[in-house]
Amino acid sequence: MKPLSLLGICGSPRPTGNSRYLLDIALEEAQRAAGTRMQVETVNLARLKIGPCMSCYTCGKRNGECFIQDDFAFLRDKWAAADAVIYSIPVYHLGIPGQLKCFIDRLGNSLWSYYGGVVAKSLRVIGIIVQGAHIFAGQEQAATQLIHHALVMGGIPVTGDPWESYIAAAGWTRCGDRKNSLRKLVDQGDEDALVTVRAARSLGRRVAQMALLVRAGGQALYRELAEDGGYSIFLQRLEQPTEQAQGAQGKE
Ligand SMILES: Cc1cc2nc3c(=O)[nH]c(=O)nc-3n(C[C@H](O)[C@H](O)[C@H](O)COP(=O)(O)O)c2cc1C
Repeated sequence: MKPLSLLGICGSPRPTGNSRYLLDIALEEAQRAAGTRMQVETVNLARLKIGPCMSCYTCGKRNGECFIQDDFAFLRDKWAAADAVIYSIPVYHLGIPGQLKCFIDRLGNSLWSYYGGVVAKSLRVIGIIVQGAHIFAGQEQAATQLIHHALVMGGIPVTGDPWESYIAAAGWTRCGDRKNSLRKLVDQGDEDALVTVRAARSLGRRVAQMALLVRAGGQALYRELAEDGGYSIFLQRLEQPTEQAQGAQGKE
């Protein structure tokens, strides 16, 4: 069985800042939970050039291909191949950073143009980590926007364990604006920062566990799901059961 793939996307323009710090914690825990059953890869949006959607609808006429020549297709293809995605972002102006918005705007139109409605049953597991400099300053709003993105892309949003993590792993840097602000707070034993780290860890674990559950469920119900064309892009990520196993599924 090929390993599940987990893509970590750091959505900060600072490639080694607080978002990346929490992302690495979550990915490490996901890897620990799934072991060799999962391959983890990280992409920094800071290292890519992805411009905004120009609303030309060329993707609708060209099988999802965007006319803008930049790094969009590179990340879209990784995203589309992933069984699970964890986004880690800073809050910007009470919402998600523009860099990530540019990517998800184009992702939605590109994949809906290419796959049509079957995107709605792609069953990709999606976890969200979000932190800002301040408290009550947009973390929930930014997380909610990404949960909505997960839903519209046919994903399964998951959060971490209670009580650290309600709808996402979230935190604040106590007004620190340095890229290592959170790490410093953790080193000082700051309780809020420690809660954020625990939330990131349990979120990583839950993403891995849910991805394993979804795959096992898909494998067990392969034949049944194949009768509904809507699941085709999910089933493409699974291994087709042998004829013997398919026969056994049919008898149940
Ligand atoms: C343009 C801009 C807008 C920001 N808006 C917010 C905000 O609305 N709420 C907040 O708590 N922090 C805000 N911040 C602070 C960042 O979210 C914070 O510094 C975060 O820790 C940066 O994470 P990073 O190191 O991963 O880039 C903003 C920062 C910038 C540069």
